[in-house]
Amino acid sequence: MVTLTSALGIRAERQRIASEFRPGDPIPQVSYTGAEDELWMRVFGKLSAMHHGLACAQYLESSRRVALPTDRVPQLTEISRRLLPLTGFQLTPASGTVPSQPFYAPFANGIFQATLYLRRPSALFYSAEPDLIHDLIGHAAMLADPDFAEIYRWFGYASRRASIEQIRQLARLFWFTLETGVLMENGRPRACGAAILSSVSEMESFLTADLRPFRVADIIAQDFDDSDCQPVLFVADSVRQIRDGLLEYMEIYAH
Ligand SMILES: [Fe+2]
Repeated sequence: MVTLTSALGIRAERQRIASEFRPGDPIPQVSYTGAEDELWMRVFGKLSAMHHGLACAQYLESSRRVALPTDRVPQLTEISRRLLPLTGFQLTPASGTVPSQPFYAPFANGIFQATLYLRRPSALFYSAEPDLIHDLIGHAAMLADPDFAEIYRWFGYASRRASIEQIRQLARLFWFTLETGVLMENGRPRACGAAILSSVSEMESFLTADLRPFRVADIIAQDFDDSDCQPVLFVADSVRQIRDGLLEYMEIYAH
């Protein structure tokens, strides 16, 4: 049985490994425990079943290419080996939540910073803070798709030249697209953002949110609280509509 104390100790150890990583170092391999594999298997199994009816087609195809293991926590290196030939992205370790600008900027070089630890067992189906389940089942599974990958890269380019106010706008655009985006497919809303796709609670509730048409100007004006399920979401017709809308906005100051 995993006690809270031992779970916190394991998490601290994963964070220590990530904090010692420096760019250029080999990506560390982590020996995950049976309890961590069990937690991954339980959440991934539940999410996979929900994705089949509620995730957008482009995410389903991208996640199929990444082929995350169902029965154990994967290493960042094995996921990077699949992403690199497809979109040029690779994963590096982060010790915790990274602030917006330093999180986005490495996207320009095809770097996604992922945590190495899993959520607490008490937060199995909804974790307000990113963990390995969110970063891999959400973000990494999207990064095998060239359209999604291009959007991530553009957040990287834009963040490098953005003012503090523009970073705040980028954070809203990131949140309402790559984290909580929704597409309308065959007349039905389908999840296409990492925060929804990696949370059982969000997958259960996003259809009941206030679903508004995707418009960059509306998103920039929309505040959000990332500590709970989302009451307002923006719905696009396609990933390319999101990409084109964001690129038109970001081009103003990304060059
Ligand atoms: Fe995220």
